[in-house]
Amino acid sequence: MVAGATMAVLQRASTASTDFFVGLLPVHVLMVVILVSGMAMLWRVSRARDVYLVDYGCFLGEPRYRIPSAMALEHARLMTDIIEEESADFMARLHERSGIGEETSVPDSYRYMPPERGVEASREEAELVISSAVDKVFARTTVNPKDIDTLIVACSFTTLTPVFADVVVNKYRLRADVQSVNLSGMGCSGALICVGLAQKLLQAAPPGKHKHVLIIATEILSSMLYNGTKREMLVPNVLFRMGAAAMIMTNSPERARFRLGPIVRTLTAGRDSDYRCAFQEEDDKGITGINLSKELPVVAANALKSHIVAFCPRALPALELLRVAFSLVKQYVFPQPRATGRAEKGARPAFNKVFQHFCIHPGGRRVLHEMQRGLGLSDRDMEASHMTLHRFGNMASSSLLYELAYIEAKGRMSKGDRVCMISFSPGIDCSSVVWECINPAAADPNGPWAACIHRYPVHAQAQQLPQIAKMT
Ligand SMILES: *[C@@H]1O[C@H](CO)[C@@H](O)[C@H](O)[C@H]1NC(C)=O
Ligand SMILES: *[C@@H]1O[C@H](CO)[C@@H](O)[C@H](O)[C@H]1NC(C)=O
Ligand SMILES: *[C@@H]1O[C@H](CO)[C@@H](O)[C@H](O)[C@H]1NC(C)=O
Repeated sequence: MVAGATMAVLQRASTASTDFFVGLLPVHVLMVVILVSGMAMLWRVSRARDVYLVDYGCFLGEPRYRIPSAMALEHARLMTDIIEEESADFMARLHERSGIGEETSVPDSYRYMPPERGVEASREEAELVISSAVDKVFARTTVNPKDIDTLIVACSFTTLTPVFADVVVNKYRLRADVQSVNLSGMGCSGALICVGLAQKLLQAAPPGKHKHVLIIATEILSSMLYNGTKREMLVPNVLFRMGAAAMIMTNSPERARFRLGPIVRTLTAGRDSDYRCAFQEEDDKGITGINLSKELPVVAANALKSHIVAFCPRALPALELLRVAFSLVKQYVFPQPRATGRAEKGARPAFNKVFQHFCIHPGGRRVLHEMQRGLGLSDRDMEASHMTLHRFGNMASSSLLYELAYIEAKGRMSKGDRVCMISFSPGIDCSSVVWECINPAAADPNGPWAACIHRYPVHAQAQQLPQIAKMT
């Protein structure tokens, strides 16, 4: 109805304007031409500040890195002097309900008894995952290592000397004037924070200069394993898996695959519950781990709400905002009985009409279900996230690129599609990034999903959701 009315108004306006233009003097024509070319220039200038993703690559572990659940369980049991029987049972139950499949990868250091957690193990793992991801991204693009102007590496828990950025400079012989940045401690939002940083750097480049930023996002597990017995700290052992992703970003649309849209980041660490929801600390025996709060899903849902409030005005088209505003006003004028739960529905933006694809950080099944509810998404919208959790586990911030790869491997990405990536990390830091596909690619034979995409989506057994709160 609204569309019909708009059309009628437009038609009336256009007939009126033809009448008006008939008697135009040349000077007016000139003004129109100047106006139009001015607007075109403005458009070009604003486009010049656009930033693009050339391509991305993901680490894929050889089958020997696989950790099927039976093996994880056996390991947990064999390590009984490290992990007590009761804790091993807890981990087994958690594993069963986590939504994690049988083919996820862990580093070799996890297989030793007791697990190897030294610097050497961390460096070995970092070299393995980082070089695999970087090799893949260079293989997929015409960009050379010598073209890289800036290198950003995000890895939260592990920092060695020399830093991982130097590992990359050394292996790929990047230029001596490369700007290198290591971001640690940013958790699972690391990759998106890097994208924001790369955008600022590329926009600051002098006009006409083509610059390339190489981003690497990973988490090194070798030093993260918690060998204590506190349940709240054992959860990350079950969920986190080995992975890394590399992206090349640039300020030129030539040969780029995605255009970067709005980036929104909110930090709710001002609230104590949010600040403490995932907290690195020592347990009573002095063993360091990450203490996951029982309220995590609720706290995360609240943080998501604050994020959506900031996200909508920046990332949604005006028409959708108008529709939401209209239905809010309607609700205010004609209040509906709240109990039906229908009232909130109309007032929520239709995210899956605005974005064709979603990549949501696979922090665990329960968190994904909370996100689905909060954003009003369909099962299909959530598919990439659940399948990534099943096939690869939670690989911290690199997981989002595996999800993008899933959508592409399924052949669902078309030109003009908009992808919304959302991640959250301790703090709670919620980040979202919008991409628009400008150049869909053929299926990648070396992509992380190439060998298994035909088996997906799988329907993980319809068990109840992991109730971390109830189990602890
Ligand atoms: C946990 O690992 C650390 C470092 O590898 C080791 O020193 C410690 O003894 C282990 N703790 C237990 C309870 O086995
Ligand atoms: C970069 O790495 C060093 C270790 O070499 C670490 O001390 C430092 O905190 C890191 N910088 C950032 C911003 O994370
Ligand atoms: C984890 O955090 C909770 C609440 O902050 C606290 O009660 C609990 O003792 C912590 N657990 C450990 C092992 O430190």
